[in-house]
Amino acid sequence: MAGPQVFPKQPVSTTPTGKAPHGGVPQRGLMTTPSSSTSTGRFGRLFRRSPVFSSKADSMVVLGVAMLQPIEKDPKGNKVLDTQLGELDGDENTSTLANGQLRLPAGYTYFGQFVDHDITFDPVSSLARQNDPNALVDFRTPKFDLDNLYGRGPQDQPYLYQDKSTVGSADPDDGIKLIQGKPIGPENQRDLPRAENNRAIIGDPRNDENKIISQLQATFIRLHNRAVDWIRSGDDKGFQATTPDDVFKRAQQLVRWHYQWVVVHDFLPRIVGDDPFQPDEGVVADILEAKAHMTVSGRATVIRPKLLFYQFGSKPFMPVEFSVAAYRYGHSVIRPSYQINQFLLKARKPQPVPGLPDVTASRIPIFTQTKGLTDSLNGFNTIVPNWGVDWNFFLPISKVQDLPQPSYKMDTQIAHPLGFLPESVATTEALVRGFSDRVAQALPVRNLLRGLRLGLPGGEDIAHAMGIKPDPQIAITAGTLTSALEEEELKISQAQIDAAASDLKGRTPLWYYILKEAELLKSAHLGAVGGRIVAETLIGLLAADPLSFLSAQQDWQPLFPRRDPKTDGPFTLSDLIAFALSA
Ligand code: HEM
Repeated sequence: MAGPQVFPKQPVSTTPTGKAPHGGVPQRGLMTTPSSSTSTGRFGRLFRRSPVFSSKADSMVVLGVAMLQPIEKDPKGNKVLDTQLGELDGDENTSTLANGQLRLPAGYTYFGQFVDHDITFDPVSSLARQNDPNALVDFRTPKFDLDNLYGRGPQDQPYLYQDKSTVGSADPDDGIKLIQGKPIGPENQRDLPRAENNRAIIGDPRNDENKIISQLQATFIRLHNRAVDWIRSGDDKGFQATTPDDVFKRAQQLVRWHYQWVVVHDFLPRIVGDDPFQPDEGVVADILEAKAHMTVSGRATVIRPKLLFYQFGSKPFMPVEFSVAAYRYGHSVIRPSYQINQFLLKARKPQPVPGLPDVTASRIPIFTQTKGLTDSLNGFNTIVPNWGVDWNFFLPISKVQDLPQPSYKMDTQIAHPLGFLPESVATTEALVRGFSDRVAQALPVRNLLRGLRLGLPGGEDIAHAMGIKPDPQIAITAGTLTSALEEEELKISQAQIDAAASDLKGRTPLWYYILKEAELLKSAHLGAVGGRIVAETLIGLLAADPLSFLSAQQDWQPLFPRRDPKTDGPFTLSDLIAFALSA
């Protein structure tokens, strides 16, 4: 038996009191997955017949550290976290769609994180905590239902909704709009509503983990309120509301359905390598192909998603191949830093990165390990004046030079700040004997160890199970691992690298496999294995939800106005956000 293994901790079975950052504590039920052979319950496996990947935990640490992108140097030899806005240095995902737009502007990264939090919602880490002390029962099924926005609704969680003291003077006082936070500027942005200790009062605390996702949550709050106004002003043609409750339910349904539409017809095609502006081709079209059937009045068609690998009984489960590997593709596309609005672009000159001696950042670092409110885009705190996100910096809402910022490439390199997460997201702890406690704050290390502990199959085995020939270039070699030496603070030795190279010969952990597969496709989007797992899971979850547009009304089309009525192609995330901010 190896020495004491403290990663991951067992899920708590009483009301937890510690911090529950984005995914930092395993989801309830998650740790029992390997021993479960069922396809029901909250978590499960897609490939139950594939052998479990086994390697030494040490090898996961070495590989995870090797995946961190070292601090770069500018042409003058100065250490830099990034480039100026508009300047490309080869790290950006500059791939474009058929219409010439960027495939993955940076806003899709955080929309992806928002989607993750919606479908992996766990009441144990939410406001529901006090009502749900015995953590092992009453799992919710994963759904795109925006419970991170609505909580359990105005009756059950009225403190998320406006009342006499918060409602605008023109509004009826009926408690169906969501509470917004205080105005922050520089334009009309608002913070999230916060308690005295500055923690956000929202349906899922993880949506305050960094300032970009906080502002996305704040924009979804406005989207719901905008939908209420839109319905009340009679723009929702054909809908007659008699009570405030009717208006609330209709607004909630419209917000959910537009969001679900954007997930399936805009976001998903972009990440799996399809083109949302060519919707008849690719992985999503294959899964959603309508089937013909004969009726007494002639032929009709219906969509029954083609789920070859994601098969479940009456209730869907969260596949660990998705949540612990394929969907964590998102960690690879995170930039080390961002510009967030025109005011700060002008006011904030390149400056030293707090906590990183001699390193300069031209944009604002996504994280630092320091606590200053303007050190970085760290979350879980109030947002200071003028730090509101202008979505033109993240999405192609309107044409502005050098905008939006691209995401980073989808590849095996992870931006440097994610190797040194703040305490609010992951704490230092002894994870694997013989390594520094600080490796617990390196996100790639956490991902790889989580996959190992959950007994995921290896990438090659899953590829074979899917009828896909693994590319030999994916295999890990000693050369893959040598960059681990560059992160001096994490103290990886050459002997540890050699041992890991021999341990991993011919076997690739699934998360790394999926990122390498993407890298070999110009680092633009997921590859054969990753793309199919993500597409089947997202579409399968939607189809399993009886209230989704795909189940309830397959021919439904978005109703909210487009940002530009002349725009071709599907309703997109940019349309949704522009509508939320309109009026
Ligand atoms: C700055 C942004 C982000 C940070 C700091 C972050 C951090 C984390 C952390 C600490 C975990 C738990 C790791 C573990 O112990 O197993 C995690 C889990 C996860 N992350 Fe992220 N993440 C970020 C963005 C994203 C994005 C953009 C995506 C996808 C598009 C994503 C997908 C996931 C998934 C699927 C999980 C596992 C399920 C869960 O617990 O939510 N993350 N992330």
